[in-house]
Amino acid sequence: MGSAAIATLALAIVCFHGGLISGASLQRVTNLKWTSFNFHTTLQWESTSKEAAYTVRVRGIQTDWKRKPECTHIQSTSCDMTSMMQNVTDRYVAEVLTLSADLTDEVEEPPVAESTPIQLLSATEIGEPNFKLFQNSSREARLLIEGTVTSIRFSNNTPKTLRDIYGPNLQYKVTYWKDGTSGKRDKTTHNQVVLIKVDEGVTYCFSVEIKINSPYKYGPRSQAKCTKVQNSEYGLGFYALIIIGTLVALSVIIGVTVCLCRRKAAHSNTETNPLKVA
Ligand SMILES: *[C@@H]1O[C@H](CO)[C@@H](O)[C@H](O)[C@H]1NC(C)=O
Ligand SMILES: *[C@@H]1O[C@H](CO)[C@@H](O)[C@H](O)[C@H]1NC(C)=O
Repeated sequence: MGSAAIATLALAIVCFHGGLISGASLQRVTNLKWTSFNFHTTLQWESTSKEAAYTVRVRGIQTDWKRKPECTHIQSTSCDMTSMMQNVTDRYVAEVLTLSADLTDEVEEPPVAESTPIQLLSATEIGEPNFKLFQNSSREARLLIEGTVTSIRFSNNTPKTLRDIYGPNLQYKVTYWKDGTSGKRDKTTHNQVVLIKVDEGVTYCFSVEIKINSPYKYGPRSQAKCTKVQNSEYGLGFYALIIIGTLVALSVIIGVTVCLCRRKAAHSNTETNPLKVA
């Protein structure tokens, strides 16, 4: 055998060996899982290979594969896909490629795991809304519901609200009850300002949830907020007046009584004194 032949054989062995390492130790990731909350969307997976790195790519029905630098050749096992999934009606599929952690070790056909398809309009979970509660009149409560901001953006980069995305399909369901009772009533409305008639002098509690009519789904119900009881229609000024009035009346009565007593005493003095002098 010539030295050239030996070199070729050695090279072949190295190549074969290298190929074995890449092929055998790198495997497809498993358990790909989407989580999406108010259109903030993350892909997670489980690693099956040590010393592996991952690259994530995603495409819509009619779009090409896209990847982003933050999810290219990464060691972590999740990727924030939000910026790449801004078309809420599109149906996205993602792939996770398993690569060698060593950048110089190029893998020709990396093992690929494919996600289930996802359409965010129906798949994203909707959070609970925030609201403020006012009671300016004793017979009416006023709820001010805040619009929920999402991770989807207009082309000018301002964020869209759930209302911007779902339009008239979004409604608020307000549930309310007298504090301490179990009977509940509800009111469903498109408005962010909600007026509800209440009985005077009773504490009412309110909670709000978001309801989407199409695609049909509910968000969780918010924590309850309760009105403060106002026992009377009159304000602080009225009570101040009553107290001042009572004080004035009392002092007048006391003043008059003292005067009368003094006068009586003086009278009896003039009656008794002459007798004493005499
Ligand atoms: C969003 O995706 C849908 C479904 O693939 C497509 O018909 C529509 O043109 C896309 N919209 C934009 C703005 O790309
Ligand atoms: C009710 O009270 C809130 C806050 O105190 C105020 O902003 C609002 O203008 C009031 N509304 C009416 C109708 O008085």
